[in-house]
Amino acid sequence: QQIPVVAVDGPSGSGKGTICRLLAQKLGWHLLDSGALYRLTALAARHHGVGLDDTEALVVLAGHLDVQFVAAAGDDEVQIILEGEEVTLAIRTEEMGNDASVVAAQGPVREALLSRQRDFAQLPGLVADGRDMGTVVFPEATLKIYLDASAEERARRRYNQLISKGLGASLEVILDDIRARDDRDMNRAVAPLKPAPDAITLDTTKMTIDEVLLAVLDEARHRG
Ligand code: C5P
Repeated sequence: QQIPVVAVDGPSGSGKGTICRLLAQKLGWHLLDSGALYRLTALAARHHGVGLDDTEALVVLAGHLDVQFVAAAGDDEVQIILEGEEVTLAIRTEEMGNDASVVAAQGPVREALLSRQRDFAQLPGLVADGRDMGTVVFPEATLKIYLDASAEERARRRYNQLISKGLGASLEVILDDIRARDDRDMNRAVAPLKPAPDAITLDTTKMTIDEVLLAVLDEARHRG
């Protein structure tokens, strides 16, 4: 039986994370936060003293990530445990986001994470959040959504998100980071960030979370 997959791609700060979490809750489906896997690989590299340019060692780390995603009650985000240590917040810093995008630019590392991501496709269905969900990981996805927003708006959202988590942040630094990360994610040789040809693009710059969620749910229902 084919497992239904909703693939949601887009640049950092486009609202993907929140939308995917809410969508998975509404549908009662599984959730893949693929960015977390790249962040975890970057954090594991740091823990093991592996350089971010040491592709061979990164592939080994990515292939053997000792990670658990522990579902939390209600609206809370899942807890992430790496090698027995809770790293839910530690992987969300801008620094880890940037390290993740350096790691993610290396083809062999992406390949090492491929089967792990596909394993998340389980009944009754999967909501997959990332950069290449519709283009590479789940090309047969039932529905492909590309969420976009202006860099300034995405920086503002990221800033508010970090502050609300009690993490320090500077709007200016975040905007610079977002531009650098966009550049790296969109212009890399392997699995660059771009909408799949059959994706529906939503510009969320002026939309609320609720409006985006409704629009995506509407599309999802159309596809049965
Ligand atoms: O989505 P998030 O900000 O957590 O992702 C961190 C980084 O991981 C991204 O900037 C991107 O470079 C990389 N990534 C990727 N492919 C994915 C998900 C994330 O290359 N499917």
